[in-house]
Amino acid sequence: MKKILVIHYSQTGQLTRVLDSILTPLKADASVSVACEELKPLKPFPFPWNSKEFFDAFPESVLEKPIAMQPLNVNPDEQFDLIILGCQVWFLSPSQPLTGFLKSKEGMQLLNGKNVITVSASRNMWLNAQESVKLMLKNAGAKLTGNIALIDRSPNLISVATIVGWLFYEKKENYLGVFPPSGISEKDIAEASRFGTTILEALNKNEFQNLQAKIVSQGGVMMVKTLVNLELRAKLIFRKWAQFISAKGGPGDPKRRVRTKIFAWYLPIGLLVLSPIAYTLSNIIMLLMPGKAKKQREYFEGVELN
Ligand SMILES: Cc1cc2nc3c(=O)[nH]c(=O)nc-3n(C[C@H](O)[C@H](O)[C@H](O)COP(=O)(O)O)c2cc1C
Repeated sequence: MKKILVIHYSQTGQLTRVLDSILTPLKADASVSVACEELKPLKPFPFPWNSKEFFDAFPESVLEKPIAMQPLNVNPDEQFDLIILGCQVWFLSPSQPLTGFLKSKEGMQLLNGKNVITVSASRNMWLNAQESVKLMLKNAGAKLTGNIALIDRSPNLISVATIVGWLFYEKKENYLGVFPPSGISEKDIAEASRFGTTILEALNKNEFQNLQAKIVSQGGVMMVKTLVNLELRAKLIFRKWAQFISAKGGPGDPKRRVRTKIFAWYLPIGLLVLSPIAYTLSNIIMLLMPGKAKKQREYFEGVELN
């Protein structure tokens, strides 16, 4: 009997649905047992979000400060053949509950020595967060053997607008009567079950070396080529903002409110102005240096940590 543990945190249920789809072939196999662990922060995060709480979550997400988590239900000494880790992305970083888990003593104990496959279902910017997750997994002694990254296929600025409707007003579809549905498409969620079949094969053969290449060939790592450079630069800028805001106090501290508000204005303006510039620059770079851009993409499609 092969034992899989699925760990995740999701506010809207989207990541849960993606994981459920991936798990379908695995659950249907009598030789596989699947256990699930839902991550629970000691102090829950709100859903839907309001602007104040949303931007107050920014500094500690970016600085990857671990929050206190409720104890796990699973025994951290229990052995598993594979851990499938749902990775929620907040502000180009692992979400606070994910960081809380990955940096906790219990989490690190559980992950130590295990094969791990990460799964994210973000808007479209997950590269930096995945780099952080790779490092945290390495620090925990885990072996990252696969990564599935699904994104919202809408154009960048459309997905920015629709995610506001979804996360702030719980209006996933038809936001303001004009926008397409937010998030991962129903088709992509349903078809994610194909990755489960690929994972099952690797698990049965205990052969994980070629797993990521197969996931990539099945379209399991989605990224927007023209946003790669913008995302990498944005994380550096985010770190500076996060330090600037948190210098005034911790989560909820009224002393940091003014700085958080300035950032709340900066972010959408930055996105509106920088996205088209980054798009144009990226296209020029890809034309002038196709080899460099390809190498960069291949790195992010992989599971190694540079
Ligand atoms: C506070 C916050 C920050 C987010 N930041 C990002 C981001 O930087 N990049 C991205 O692609 N998606 C981002 N998202 C979208 C999430 O990754 C995810 O797609 C969404 O929250 C719904 O998924 P879930 O509730 O199943 O986790 C953010 C969501 C929240 C709540």
